[in-house]
Amino acid sequence: MSRRTLELAAEVMEKLASIYGVSELIEVAHVHISGVSYLTIGDAGLEFLEDLASKGTKFRVPATVNPIGFDLEYVEQLNIPQDFVNKQLRILNALKSMGANLILSCTPYEIIDLPPGTHVAWGESNAVIYANSILGLRTNREGGPLTVLAAILGKVPKYGLHLDEVRKPTHLVEVEYSQPLNHLVASALGYLIGELVVTGVPLIRGNIAKYFSESPHGHELVKLFLASLATSSQVNRCIIPNLSRDYSGEVPSKVVKIEGKDIKKAIDELSSGAIPDIIAIGCPHCSLKEVMLIYEILEREGIRAKKPFLLFTSRRVKEELRRLGILSKLTERGVLVCADTCIVVSPIVRTLGIKVVMTNSGKAAHYLRRMHGIDVVLGDLRDCIREVCSGV
Ligand code: F3S
Repeated sequence: MSRRTLELAAEVMEKLASIYGVSELIEVAHVHISGVSYLTIGDAGLEFLEDLASKGTKFRVPATVNPIGFDLEYVEQLNIPQDFVNKQLRILNALKSMGANLILSCTPYEIIDLPPGTHVAWGESNAVIYANSILGLRTNREGGPLTVLAAILGKVPKYGLHLDEVRKPTHLVEVEYSQPLNHLVASALGYLIGELVVTGVPLIRGNIAKYFSESPHGHELVKLFLASLATSSQVNRCIIPNLSRDYSGEVPSKVVKIEGKDIKKAIDELSSGAIPDIIAIGCPHCSLKEVMLIYEILEREGIRAKKPFLLFTSRRVKEELRRLGILSKLTERGVLVCADTCIVVSPIVRTLGIKVVMTNSGKAAHYLRRMHGIDVVLGDLRDCIREVCSGV
């Protein structure tokens, strides 16, 4: 690798450290690179990565990669323009030549196994908040180019959530809600807490916290909840007692109270009454368990999708589904299982002319509105499946 590239990465990190008022850089054990879809980084991002790769740059620490703009298997079916495909593949080639592990998923926390307390440098807000909140990993929310430089240097400035004092809870969030938690409520509640707390470390108290830790689908609910929370705020850590591995029991004095009517209001704000023309699940990427749950409902109830039903997951999960013989059965039921991408970072909203999406994800609802300018219906997983059966 050129000496200049290493120097450049070090200069940027030192500059950032001085902006944050610290002098020390800290070594990271892993990097998760975000901002790799050609849709979001365009030609400037492509040139940045190809320039680094052309200088023989190699990553010093293991680095995984976020989703891109398509699943290569469905490029034609989803109308992805050839020019987009070519440029996206060049981005992947550049990352691969530098040593990246192309998991192409936003849920590295379902793949990477590191002990609590490990310092990492992750981009992708849902991964960052999950790492800090549940796994006890230590990372700030790094931007895409910075994650690349962190992988080159193996270090980042030692500030923010790398420090003990910043990881302590700042707001006690008391949620009065006694119903069982579903995907809709988890998404809306996360979004609402983000709007109320904005920045800091909320500590969740009440039945909700218990439900997260005791429900057999707790992991999937927590993913949706945290992804929404990080979407509406700058919050990168949220403490859920019994789940947060490095919570040592402090309780903050600032209290935020939330009742059922507040959650209902948040749902109404996130969801429109329009008729969806497509259903999209998998923001963050579905785990194998989530896909199996959907598959079992469709099989049990003999459902064949009457509307386009897209399910986004990692290539690892898709391969496992293929191996189990489930992938073809889902296809027969009208479900398109897409790996490597998602409804937000792919150009399919435009290429398929989508007007209204139904989803169970508060994060997808937010970005589909703000980034793609379309209408969104937010629902529980069961509502989404019900909608799939409707030919309207
Ligand atoms: Fe992942 Fe795309 Fe959502 S990258 S968190 S599925 S916006």
